[in-house]
Amino acid sequence: MNRDLISDNNGLSMTTRLLNADRRLAGDLGVSPAIHQSVNYIARDAEHLEEISQPFGPHYYSRRGNPTSAALARVIADLEGGEMGMVFASGMGAIATSLMAYTRAGDHIVGQANHYIGITEMIDKLLPGYGVEATRVDQTSLAAFEEAIRPNTKLILLETPANPLMQITDLEAVCDLARSRGILTFCDNTFATPINQRPMEWGVDIVMHSATKYIGGHHDLLAGSITASRAVLEPIWDLSMTTGAIAAPFNSWLALRGLRTLELRMARHNANGLAIAGFLEGHPAVGKVYFPGLPTHPQHDLASRQMSGVGGLLTFDLKGGYAAGQAFIKRLKLAAYASSLGGVSSTLVQPAALFGDRLPAAAVEKQGITPGMIRFAAGIENTEDLLADIDQAL
Ligand SMILES: Cc1ncc(COP(=O)(O)O)c(C=O)c1O
Repeated sequence: MNRDLISDNNGLSMTTRLLNADRRLAGDLGVSPAIHQSVNYIARDAEHLEEISQPFGPHYYSRRGNPTSAALARVIADLEGGEMGMVFASGMGAIATSLMAYTRAGDHIVGQANHYIGITEMIDKLLPGYGVEATRVDQTSLAAFEEAIRPNTKLILLETPANPLMQITDLEAVCDLARSRGILTFCDNTFATPINQRPMEWGVDIVMHSATKYIGGHHDLLAGSITASRAVLEPIWDLSMTTGAIAAPFNSWLALRGLRTLELRMARHNANGLAIAGFLEGHPAVGKVYFPGLPTHPQHDLASRQMSGVGGLLTFDLKGGYAAGQAFIKRLKLAAYASSLGGVSSTLVQPAALFGDRLPAAAVEKQGITPGMIRFAAGIENTEDLLADIDQAL
């Protein structure tokens, strides 16, 4: 069997490649891949021990190499079009290890005004304690990125689309700028997934996922990934041996299972996101709708150029404010009031309630979060059922 089926492409569709990749990569005979729970792998002799203990080897001591996690890293790297990958215990484990590997006291990084809250806290609170300064900029402005760059800037941190306002970063433009200054780019591709957007095609050096979201896709695992060239990954691999935030084999196995339906699921997430955003845009109870798939979104053209679908995540303002948001959530029958997203079933949050106690009111306002704002993550339910439920709740 051709173990490189997925990377070679062979003219096969993404679905066919995904359905065949994982078990071949793990070298199993089962139709479903095995879970390699073993922590230790046996060396035949000293020479073999030397061989299996090399960086990125798939069989050694599980913190340094596990076949199931290695298969997951390989499949994600191939989907992203990258040379190699690593998988972590969570998305936060992936980004923390990468930032620690690439910054030292006295360095500076550039980030975006809007990131996942955990990443914002890492930039604003954790890194300064280690002597790493950061400037966060409006991701829609190339000039803002350029102005923020300093002689000691080591890395530009990107996330696109970024919630809750669903802003898009022009990956090609920012990567051209970064490369011209010798700065590394890191992109959180969690919400787009490699089905909708492949940041490396626009020049990004490191692509990261919270695999907890769409890659896993079933609300039942926590994992993270990064993909990059071997040279870029090496310092991160070295550090991960010390920090140890690597993925558990069972979670890697669940993520591999999730990946087999990623393309199918994303097609429905994309369709549901678009249908719901279009419905909400015309509804009298709803103010602004934030969804890059709508022609009214200020960055619709950029989203259409950079992405092949925009996913199921959207945000909208209820004219009735905070109380209207809480009432809407209570009346909904299908979507769960839960903070995570990217699984088969829909979830929603009211950002003002979610972040209100973690961010000062001024910061909430600065990020554009309004009291009546709802962030809705459309699952893969039947589109008409979702629309009918939202309609009755409004
Ligand atoms: C865009 C984004 N990046 C990173 C993370 C962190 O990932 P994890 O929860 O897997 O640590 C999240 C989690 O919500 C996220 O939404």
